Amino acid sequence: MRIRLNVSTFGEEEIEQAVEAMRSGFVTMGPRCEKFESAFAAYLGGGEAAFVNSGSSANLLAFFALANDAAPKRPGKRKFFAGAEVIVPAVTWSTTIWPIIQSGLIPVLVDSDPRTLQMDVEAMKAAITRKTVAVCPVHVLGNTVAMDELLAAAAEHELWVIEDTCEALGSRYRGTIAGTMGDIGTFSFFFSHHITTIEGGMVTTRDPEIAELMRCLRAHGWTRQLKRRGEIEARHPEIDPAFLFVNTGFNVRPTEINAAFGLVQLGRLDGFNQRRKAIAADWIGRLGALIEDGTISPMQPTPGADCAWFGFPMLCRNREVRDALKRRLDERGVEHRPIICGNMARQPALARLPHRIAGTLSGADAIMDRGLLWGAHPLMTDAEVDYVARTALSVGTTV
Ligand SMILES: Cc1ncc(COP(=O)(O)O)c(C=O)c1O
Repeated sequence: MRIRLNVSTFGEEEIEQAVEAMRSGFVTMGPRCEKFESAFAAYLGGGEAAFVNSGSSANLLAFFALANDAAPKRPGKRKFFAGAEVIVPAVTWSTTIWPIIQSGLIPVLVDSDPRTLQMDVEAMKAAITRKTVAVCPVHVLGNTVAMDELLAAAAEHELWVIEDTCEALGSRYRGTIAGTMGDIGTFSFFFSHHITTIEGGMVTTRDPEIAELMRCLRAHGWTRQLKRRGEIEARHPEIDPAFLFVNTGFNVRPTEINAAFGLVQLGRLDGFNQRRKAIAADWIGRLGALIEDGTISPMQPTPGADCAWFGFPMLCRNREVRDALKRRLDERGVEHRPIICGNMARQPALARLPHRIAGTLSGADAIMDRGLLWGAHPLMTDAEVDYVARTALSVGTTV
């Protein structure tokens, strides 16, 4: 048997809708994208959503918007400036960090809790300085950051909160959906994520001015697809309104084909997430013997979190156990991988890039040195779930 980390979750309906989009002759960003944005915002319970071509682009727009000279000033929030600091967890994907640097800011890496895999909020609080303008909690692998404590600290220090929710669409913290608790939420629809638009992402906010600025940066400062284009055009009567530019930015637009996928997938999201939760609960029950003696410690939900498991991550007792487990998984065809990119501070790219490390990163090191995950995708059959459990249990006799 071969147990994949992920399989594509799209089917005939997504394909039919994509073909229909192509047959319509209108394939660049248009009405389907707008419909998907509205449906996504409604799923989150309100606010505005801008569809983009990846989760990385969603992070790019979030940081570029806040660092832009056209960013709105908000009482109770610090102003961004060149060289200002943004706090991020050491265990995250590269493109949580790169957009911070690309927008002229300094990422400050803090430790991650090896039990929950999330940003250690105490470490985050200790990292705040006069230069800090924002914090970027990342809801890692379907779990959530302890947002109550994080939001209280952010409010006290007047920090912006950008929630990277690329790995946790549909997860909740104390009943609130992840990605809606901060100022901006970012999401990824890469093929292996909670829903897929092939490639794709979304950036969301309840601040209409920031939403409009992000839409402007999404299309290299062009006004053509802005909600309030009329007001801007009226201020520049001498310029053809179809080709009016008011800012810099990127072309990170999605296509109608991506939106066609997204509209179908969004309707399937809750069902997918129920399955993810059921699979994780099954393994936690079945692997009790390995968990009780500390051979493996699966990710612990943060108190108050309702996790939409994105894979089944765990820390092993030590490296030897981790390596023995890896070997057994390889022998039995169960794919596995490290927990995200491990401790990002140890990636060679960081040595070339401006950043600051605050405190020790011993939790992140443990995650890198003793962690692994195997897949928990929603199309896994009961037989596959059982096969993985039996494979993991068999390692107990060899270590
Ligand atoms: C935490 C996190 N942020 C951002 C991204 C970037 O998303 P994308 O791959 O859609 O660019 C990912 C991708 O896996 C991620 O895990």
